[in-house]
Amino acid sequence: MVAPRLIIVLIATILVLATSISAKDYVVGDDSGWTLDFDYQTWAKDKVFFVGDNLVFNYASGSHNVVKVNGTGFQQCIVSSTNEVLTSGRDVIPLKTPGRKWYICGVGKHCESRNMKLVITVLPNTKDTTLIPIATSGSTKLAVYGFIIALFVSRLLLFV
Ligand SMILES: *[C@@H]1O[C@H](CO)[C@@H](O)[C@H](O)[C@H]1NC(C)=O
Repeated sequence: MVAPRLIIVLIATILVLATSISAKDYVVGDDSGWTLDFDYQTWAKDKVFFVGDNLVFNYASGSHNVVKVNGTGFQQCIVSSTNEVLTSGRDVIPLKTPGRKWYICGVGKHCESRNMKLVITVLPNTKDTTLIPIATSGSTKLAVYGFIIALFVSRLLLFV
């Protein structure tokens, strides 16, 4: 009866490692998308964002836009000419650096009056930067993870 248990442990190990490798796409507002009168702080509250993940803003192009601002711009709903404005209606924003990130809608009073503002905190991707600094290409990374999985499994075998 050892085999089934071992397989479960093996699958669980691979799943845990696989999910930690892959970047996540977060659709802001889920099915509601980027829209008026949605509570984006509640949406963001239970999520943990890492460097390498993406934010996806879905909306009818022309109705809204997405502006990356700083903390002041966020508090006061101010869009300056130096801010980058995204308008495609399916804007994908790669989270490239850790720290606080602020996004607002720059159309009309959508930020001031209709709550179209999102603030998140992006955490460093420690798995990539500290565990495997030598792995740069995808295949090298996979090989390294394969090796780690093998190590894990061989260690687990001692306890099964
Ligand atoms: C925030 O952004 C605005 C507009 O780009 C800029 O004028 C202001 O100096 C920035 N504030 C800080 C604290 O960086």
